[in-house]
Amino acid sequence: MGQVHDEILPGRVEHANLRDYTLAVQQFRWEDVERTFSWYHTGKVNMTHEAIDRHVLEGRGAATALIYSDPSREERYTFADLQEHSSRFGNVLRKYGVGKGERVFIFMPRSPELYFSLLGVLRVGAVAGPLFEAFMETAVKDRLEDSGAVALVTTPELLKRVRREELPTLRHIIVVGRAVGEQGIISYEAEMAAAKAELEPEWLTLEDGLIMHYTSGSTGKPKGVYHAQRAMIQHYYTGKIVLDLRPDDIYWCTADPGWVTGTSYGIFAPWLNGVTNVVRGGRFSPGDWYRTIERFAVTVWYSAPTAFRMLMGAGENSLAGIDLRSLRHVLSVGEPLNPEVVRWGDKVYRQRIHDTWWMTETGAQLICNYPGMDIKPGSMGRPLPGIEAAILDDRGNEVPPYTMGNLAIRTPWPSMMAKIWNNQAKYDEYFRIPGWYISGDSAYMDEDGYFWFQGRIDDVINSSGERIGPFEVESKLVEHPAVAEAGVIGKPDLLRGEIIKAFISLREGYTATAELKDEIAAFVKAGLSAHAAPREIEFKEKLPKTRSGKIMRRVLKAWELQLPAGDLSTIED
Ligand code: WT7
Repeated sequence: MGQVHDEILPGRVEHANLRDYTLAVQQFRWEDVERTFSWYHTGKVNMTHEAIDRHVLEGRGAATALIYSDPSREERYTFADLQEHSSRFGNVLRKYGVGKGERVFIFMPRSPELYFSLLGVLRVGAVAGPLFEAFMETAVKDRLEDSGAVALVTTPELLKRVRREELPTLRHIIVVGRAVGEQGIISYEAEMAAAKAELEPEWLTLEDGLIMHYTSGSTGKPKGVYHAQRAMIQHYYTGKIVLDLRPDDIYWCTADPGWVTGTSYGIFAPWLNGVTNVVRGGRFSPGDWYRTIERFAVTVWYSAPTAFRMLMGAGENSLAGIDLRSLRHVLSVGEPLNPEVVRWGDKVYRQRIHDTWWMTETGAQLICNYPGMDIKPGSMGRPLPGIEAAILDDRGNEVPPYTMGNLAIRTPWPSMMAKIWNNQAKYDEYFRIPGWYISGDSAYMDEDGYFWFQGRIDDVINSSGERIGPFEVESKLVEHPAVAEAGVIGKPDLLRGEIIKAFISLREGYTATAELKDEIAAFVKAGLSAHAAPREIEFKEKLPKTRSGKIMRRVLKAWELQLPAGDLSTIED
């Protein structure tokens, strides 16, 4: 490797001097975290108690918890309101016999009702499974089926994508936005109005379930990453030391709760820390985003490299007449944050964008640029206090600085996933080196202990910060009547990080045309989701395969990048 990075954006801390801050981080102890939470006193816990009820009990019930805004709605809710609505929803679930440990999925666009129902699910001790609204039939079915979901909260529009007849475990469907129920459908509005406004949370242990997020690997269907209540310790702690949340903050995380950032940092971290949480529905638009910051006087903003790149692309004109001076702290996650973007943020927002690294499986941030720390643009930062990260070779030995290898984290940490639903073997793969979690990312460490992301070790694609498993896309592609075989790779892209590119061989009788490409892309979009659809398709006579018949994505990638294809000893012919 031997790269030299001498560019540093020095630590800038307005609220306290750097030494004080670093001291605060060092003095932060798990015991302080625990003292805050109920299990320290009672041995029992429930996320809704810690994130909502606790604030009401401690006299902060009238503080604004949620500011919801989209082009057609703007509403504010206090912690007392969240307590009431989540209690009502919990009572609805209880009425239908849904309770502890059962999986309840929530498939709807961002709206206050999404947050009320998710909290209601947690209140009764059930496990919440938020699904991104863009998912289409197959993607929805796979997730509900694998998790054995017993109930689903959705909207009339999205309900059309749910194949109820193929989901025998799904006992109840609650629809938001239809005042009257119908055969087999429960009306959210009618039930909420009739439900009692109080409900004591179901008391749980730290190992009981909290939330499930499906995420992709390079083989097989998406896996259900299952998190336990104990993750809240790290949501709270990183909310303090990485997001730097303080009581009067107005915090905006731009992620949807269908992805882990949208729950760990779009629900749990802000509310555990008792701050006002801004949720913006609707689509991305530079002007609307900037106005959201200005209008609500957002102080802490957590977004993603794709968004920052698009804002950068929109130019400084899009900032004309907009006042972003409320911002105190800006963070990023999801994919590599280009040094160029960090420099631009420093210049245009007068904010250093703090990169953070973590994964669905890790439940919370692990390697970060936290406030006060020197930032080396392009680096993910350093492991948080209490977290040990290392670069290991394939046998599990630590490698010297600047050597690329497996990015690994010493086990355990509080928000480490508790299981992969129904798949112990997949879970065990992450822990194949005793004492370590193997992330699947490759990286190196410099002499100051900063980590530098290099890529994925497997074939997982990261497009606009969304993680896509090539297998799921390939499986959908071969369902199309024209497709004989398909291999899918991530192709480097300036704006999106990577785009999905599919190599396809056609069945007899089909002709390679531009129309067919469009039709195949639309087919994936309609079956899985827009972000899983290939942006580029290339037809090939034949795809490179191993003798056992596996498509060799690494050869496809080499073709694409015009690189040597490497070891071809296992290729078919
Ligand atoms: C993968 C995890 C949990 C946050 C949302 C993504 C990539 C994540 C960074 C970063 C470079 C990053 C990694 C990781 N990634 N953060 N700061 N720099 N790459 O969660 O969907 O589970 O994806 O996203 O490749 O393994 P996810």
